[in-house]
Amino acid sequence: MDFGLKNRLSKIIPPKSGKTVMLAVDHGYFQGPTTGLKDIKKSITPLIPHADCLFVTRGIVRNCVDPRTDISICLRVSGGPSILGELSNEDVIVSMEEALRLNAAGVGMSIFVGAGNEDRTISNLGRLVNEAQQYGMPVLAITAVGKDMARDARYIGLACRIAAEIGAHMVKTYYCEDFHKVVEGCPVPIVIAGGKKLPEMEALQMTENAIKEGATGVDMGRNIFQSDNPVGMIKAVRAIVHKGATAEEAFEIYSSSKKQPVEAK
Ligand code: R5P
Repeated sequence: MDFGLKNRLSKIIPPKSGKTVMLAVDHGYFQGPTTGLKDIKKSITPLIPHADCLFVTRGIVRNCVDPRTDISICLRVSGGPSILGELSNEDVIVSMEEALRLNAAGVGMSIFVGAGNEDRTISNLGRLVNEAQQYGMPVLAITAVGKDMARDARYIGLACRIAAEIGAHMVKTYYCEDFHKVVEGCPVPIVIAGGKKLPEMEALQMTENAIKEGATGVDMGRNIFQSDNPVGMIKAVRAIVHKGATAEEAFEIYSSSKKQPVEAK
């Protein structure tokens, strides 16, 4: 692995803990003004100091993120359909030059294993990796779940392994029972998406389980920005990921920080 690729990866996964808290706020690329992100600049500004990396689209980076920020950017580069259309019908829509211009530490795209357009999204991943390799740009593959697919270790493991085989440097997927089997079968770091909003304690327990079973961290969105205490929630998630806190300890951080002012990480 060359210097540029390793250096960028270390901005996404800080070497001190070897773990990462990515804040996913790209939902608008197909959902429009998602609950919790309607005024996205206002929502994400207090959260950014507590995350290692922001997973985001170029439009939001340009318009809503302070360029003087310390946070690294992982840029969503796939898109096309809206929530009203066929979600798997995505292509790569952002050039590598644009990712470099925005000083991205990585680029991310979805693959739709077990859904329509499975083959095209997987070959698009291969092409993106080919291009990214030339510039030392890490690629995060996101395993979007086909409507009819069970979210179990067999299916999630299949999707993650395919992403790694095609050349992704990192994979984002969903937590499932026997998640350690998914990790064992995937030779690159895995981060978990949070999925739909859960009660805070359940989201924190899922995070603890994922880390214990070998996840490198989270790329979490709704369970943070849709919480009644988003800053408390990201601090709680951070304690589990970087400090090995239990879900109970983290829940205490979430609860006790409800009325405190925002602090830097
Ligand atoms: C899908 O919209 C994106 O890939 C999200 O970044 C991903 O699902 C993580 O966000 P959440 O934790 O809300 O599932």
